[in-house]
Amino acid sequence: MAVNRGKIPATMPSEFTAKGLLWTSLLAASPLLKAEAPPANYLSEQPAQTQHAMVVSIHHLAADAGVEILRQGGNAVDAAVATGFALAVVHPAAGNIGGGGFMLIRLHNGKSTFIDYREKAPLAATANMYLDAKGNVIPDASTIGYKAIGVPGSVAGMAYAEKKYGRLDLKRVMQPALRLARDGFVLSTEEAAELHEQDLARFPESRRIFQRDGNYYQPGEFMRQPELARTLERIADNPDSFYHGDLARDVARAVRSGGGILTERDLATYEVKEREPVTGTYKGYTVISAPPPSSGGVALIEALNILEGYNLSRLGDRAPAEMHLIVEAYRRAYMDRADYLGDPDFASLPVDQLIDKKYATAWRTGIEVDQATPSSTLRRPAGFLPPPPKEEKTPDHVNTTHYSVVDAEGNAASVTTTLNNSFGSAATAEGLGFLLNDEMDDFAAKQGVPNLYGLIQGPANAIAPGKRPLSSMTPTIVLKDGKLSMVLGSPGGGRIITTVANIFLSVAEEGLNIQQAVDAPRFHHQYLPDVLDLEPGFSAATTAGLQALGYSLDTTEQSWSDGECIFVNPHTGFLEGGQDHRHTYGKAAGY
Ligand code: DON
Repeated sequence: MAVNRGKIPATMPSEFTAKGLLWTSLLAASPLLKAEAPPANYLSEQPAQTQHAMVVSIHHLAADAGVEILRQGGNAVDAAVATGFALAVVHPAAGNIGGGGFMLIRLHNGKSTFIDYREKAPLAATANMYLDAKGNVIPDASTIGYKAIGVPGSVAGMAYAEKKYGRLDLKRVMQPALRLARDGFVLSTEEAAELHEQDLARFPESRRIFQRDGNYYQPGEFMRQPELARTLERIADNPDSFYHGDLARDVARAVRSGGGILTERDLATYEVKEREPVTGTYKGYTVISAPPPSSGGVALIEALNILEGYNLSRLGDRAPAEMHLIVEAYRRAYMDRADYLGDPDFASLPVDQLIDKKYATAWRTGIEVDQATPSSTLRRPAGFLPPPPKEEKTPDHVNTTHYSVVDAEGNAASVTTTLNNSFGSAATAEGLGFLLNDEMDDFAAKQGVPNLYGLIQGPANAIAPGKRPLSSMTPTIVLKDGKLSMVLGSPGGGRIITTVANIFLSVAEEGLNIQQAVDAPRFHHQYLPDVLDLEPGFSAATTAGLQALGYSLDTTEQSWSDGECIFVNPHTGFLEGGQDHRHTYGKAAGY
């Protein structure tokens, strides 16, 4: 998703508000806001349908790139890698080679796996690197510029996935991206407006490439990226050169010359991790999702476990009584997220306990059906979990994109990839043509101080050299009666988890089709701040009902997230695309 650079809650400490206010005013002035509101008539939406294979993405050219590769005999992973590289060209706000991501794969033979190419903290990173001498968070230090950059994992991850699970080869699947970078592509109104991002203007190379030094791209103009095309060629010839060799040297030099701490050694020691996905069940569905270092799958399954004990569909789609129960489940899952989750390679995490159905049952007994639980009084049921990790005393002490792929054999890939903020750190690697991430902000810069997404995080997510920051990215694959049913995911920072849960529940409980489920107005609660966020589209009666239950509502934001999902219709066998209509340039493509 492109413009919605994270919400700054009212309770955000002053050190964060300068940028928050800036964004708020930028957003208010943005012509994109109209394109971003959820469709008012979502219930009349019908999904795009294809018979064999489908790619759904925020960018039509990236979806087409995947389909082109499928038609050449590629499988879902070949298509996912082709779409990923194409997004790095046509969707620079989030598509990337300078960031990281997660690819969840389920093969038609029933095997599932999770490829973690999340960024890592550079080896010179320290727990307090974003704090000033008084121990306060330095504004923007973890979000803008070279110091915010984590070691990029996207190139390694996509090359790994291609080699191990693809049918074609990297050079071939990168052709659409190379073509788009070299020959250019036409910008839509919404895309041209996105390139006005003010942070890009702070870095000469970003301003030159994306803003033509102030002579901004107009809608309908071609955007060509020759430096990026050259970099993509070098990757296609030898992806490992990004980590060992000439490209690694160039990347490290570019970051160091901007004042960052990333070195060639950081790149040389970067490792892709293949992990086992987390799996849960919900009323006949099997939910396969992202394990740590994402909090997404654990929080999603924990919330669904709590909700499984209710008959939600009887309460009515998006009725206050139904929303209340869902929000109470979110509140509890996000509390656990804050206290327990981080990089599993740095501490053992109580994942099994968190997604245990008995634990969910205990949580459920504390939910009042007629009253919101204030987050300040929330107490976790005793006897299920170890005490949360304690803060270690030290001496002084928003853009992502998701796409979904299903091929003709029924293999599925669910991919969320990110630079973190829109356009990441806003810094472009000099001479290489690509933007670098600001993923370091996903760590807790200071215990108890909210990050860009207002998320409070604990010691499990403190900065350490070589550590992966905790993510909320939730690429998810759902089975029904053992068969592929849904491929789900979204950007949205801390709101990704509730976005995916809202879409899943809208299909599973309310019988909405996937397009309606993606377009339906969203609601979000993340434990702290104790506020229920509502997109436009809820009736006055609903908001009054929620207030009567005790909720503080925030209805000031136009919209958030960007679901790009696929549903397999069990009756027709056709693939149905849920392409988020909050944006104007996406596509559910296929054949
Ligand atoms: O990994 C995460 O959770 C964040 N870096 C995702 C950022 C995001 O979704 C921003 N997009 N709106």
